[in-house]
Amino acid sequence: MALLYKSDPARGAEWKKILAEKAPDLSFRIWPEIGDPSEIRYFVAWMPPDDLMEQFPNLELLISSGAGVDHLDLSKLPPGLPVARMIETGIVDGMVEYVSMAVLGLHRDLIDYAAQQRDEVWKQIRVRPAATRRVGVLGLGMLGEASCRMLTNFGFQVAGWSRSRREIEGVTCFAGSEELPEFLARTDILVCLLPLTDETRGMLNAELFAQLPKGARLVNTGRGGHLDQDALLAALDSGQISAAWLDVTTPEPLTKGHPLWSHPRVLVTPHIASMTQPETAVEVVLENLRRHHAGEPLIGLVDRKRGY
Ligand code: NDP
Ligand code: OXD
Repeated sequence: MALLYKSDPARGAEWKKILAEKAPDLSFRIWPEIGDPSEIRYFVAWMPPDDLMEQFPNLELLISSGAGVDHLDLSKLPPGLPVARMIETGIVDGMVEYVSMAVLGLHRDLIDYAAQQRDEVWKQIRVRPAATRRVGVLGLGMLGEASCRMLTNFGFQVAGWSRSRREIEGVTCFAGSEELPEFLARTDILVCLLPLTDETRGMLNAELFAQLPKGARLVNTGRGGHLDQDALLAALDSGQISAAWLDVTTPEPLTKGHPLWSHPRVLVTPHIASMTQPETAVEVVLENLRRHHAGEPLIGLVDRKRGY
């Protein structure tokens, strides 16, 4: 029985070391060193090959090496193959740090000060207390909830939006499309932490921006596919959106000369908001292998109908 890994090779080498200690009986292979394909029972992958089942006829479990699964074409996978996404504390901690950084950066006018420094300008902008700033997080799952909890610690007025009703202490929770307008109308800094699905694709668009207070700020750490980039550029030009902090774009990387690279009101990072950490990810994968064999519910089992 073997576990195959196809993701960042540097971190794969770390997985190998950790697994050698924690599960010495498990044969761990790093793509493309597959060995006998009939021995592969478990596959941790970012981009599995299209002909997955032809290559690995005895595959029992596919685990995304990241928290999202939008990169997998779920319709092409056999219905009986369980697919799990990566739910581990390393990803959560990284995202909480990043969202805090971006929200604080936008709240404290970092984009303005970076521009001022380039121009050798010394000009103070009145500091606005966090308690007067309303932050809204789209998506209250593993990452959205943890981010909301941290944001409340800074004193922001925090709200979140999800498909089903959630209750999070200190956070005003909105649910469903009927409550989206109310959520948007009270949001000064909007954070997107939704999964990319048929329902959420392109939802950061002109219609949504128009429902935010004028001059609202945007953080996108979900997926580039959530954002209509042309609509964002237009909203930045009109002042409807006053600044954007983007960790994900379309395409990744952005093409040379793309207007988002050089827009003075945009900060771009290269999809690094959080990363799967080998030490904590291995724990969860081993627990999922145990659950799989015991017939227990998997951590992060993907609901194929919902797409996340
Ligand atoms: P979860 O599946 O735990 O949570 C998703 C949340 O979004 C849930 O609250 C869900 O509602 C809500 N949601 C989904 N669809 C809708 C909809 N149509 N309308 C309203 N709410 C909806 O995901 P995670 O928190 O683990 O991750 C979120 C995303 O973050 C990932 O899918 C990935 O795209 C992105 N990500 C980005 C990273 C980066 O480095 N930039 C790193 C890791 C993840 P409900 O609670 O009702 O199910
Ligand atoms: C993830 C990501 O989904 O890195 O984990 O974006």
